[in-house]
Amino acid sequence: MKKPYAGAPSDRRARGGKVEVTLIPGDGVGPEVMGAAVAVVDAAGVKIAWDQQLGGAAALKKLGTPLPDTLLRSLRHTRVALKGPLETRVGEGYRSINVHLRRTLDLYANLRPTRSFSGVHTPFRNVDLVVVRENTEDLYAGIEYQVAPGVVESIKVITARASLRIARFAFEFARRNRRRSVTAIHKANIMKLSDGLFLKCARSVAAHYRQIEYPIEYKEQIVDAACMRLVTDPSSFDVLLLENLYGDIVSDLCAGLVGGLGVVPGANYGQRGAIFEAVHGTAPDIAGKNAANPVAAILSAAMMLEYLGHPRDGARIREAVGDVLRKGRVLTRDLGGAASTSEMTAAIIRALK
Ligand code: NAI
Repeated sequence: MKKPYAGAPSDRRARGGKVEVTLIPGDGVGPEVMGAAVAVVDAAGVKIAWDQQLGGAAALKKLGTPLPDTLLRSLRHTRVALKGPLETRVGEGYRSINVHLRRTLDLYANLRPTRSFSGVHTPFRNVDLVVVRENTEDLYAGIEYQVAPGVVESIKVITARASLRIARFAFEFARRNRRRSVTAIHKANIMKLSDGLFLKCARSVAAHYRQIEYPIEYKEQIVDAACMRLVTDPSSFDVLLLENLYGDIVSDLCAGLVGGLGVVPGANYGQRGAIFEAVHGTAPDIAGKNAANPVAAILSAAMMLEYLGHPRDGARIREAVGDVLRKGRVLTRDLGGAASTSEMTAAIIRALK
């Protein structure tokens, strides 16, 4: 049997008419925006058996561990999760649970589609970028140690295996979605071996994709120049292919081009599973205030519905979100409005057709 490509619709069968999905409300604004996403999926009429599980700081507080066994068991069983952001402390505390969860299902491809919405005012119109970020290695391998007092080393791990598969994912995504170009973003002028290997792998995959039914242009750009270009002429990019750390940074930059972190969804795909989550974090400054923008979480849920074989419902949700943003009457503060999370969610549900 042919292996499914990462991101291919799931082969999960519904039980009793309902697909099982692990639901991780998360920390900070997580429970608020995830509540919004679940309400919209329910209103769209898709039957899902949510298996709610704690993770991160919420789990540490209630269960004494940020990564409970029950969460891992649920994830291994459902192989699909809708996840809120999880807190990871700066410079101290436990290692990222996000990284751990992605590794549990080997979700090597992080996909972040970043599009302009009419009604959301930014210096750019018609931005349509797709960030493809390698999710399993690079400086996120977490190999850090103190060599001597005052000297620490952090190891950047780049392998041909991971670089080839993320490059294939980017090109396969481009082919299936009729995208025009893939740009590999790197710093191989300085990190000649590690980023050099990443580029070598991207080039070899690009060569293979030259022979498909239509040409996908392959380009390369050094990360610093790419950042400058993104904020002056985002239309010169299409699909961006990046290692883990550059991907993390550049996707927030791209979010800034289309109205901020409140509107950009994301998915982590592997060969046989996926976790859907917004690009944003726990937003501690607005947590618990019913002020977070629920759009990123709702659009992540729409991506999940596509993955679960409900593309029409995913599209209906996206259209409802587009409608509310275009009309501009019910917007959260980050978009210049005064609506609460629940008011904006209710407006999106009303706009569902
Ligand atoms: P953040 O994304 O939480 O917040 C950055 C800024 O964006 C804040 O001003 C926040 O209010 C705003 N913002 C974020 N989401 C928003 C929304 N839905 N609506 C309106 N405004 C929103 O990033 P920060 O502050 O760097 O990280 C906070 C925590 O989140 C950290 O512990 C970090 O590790 C974690 N984090 C978790 C992620 C995940 O679970 N996937 C991803 C990124 C960060």
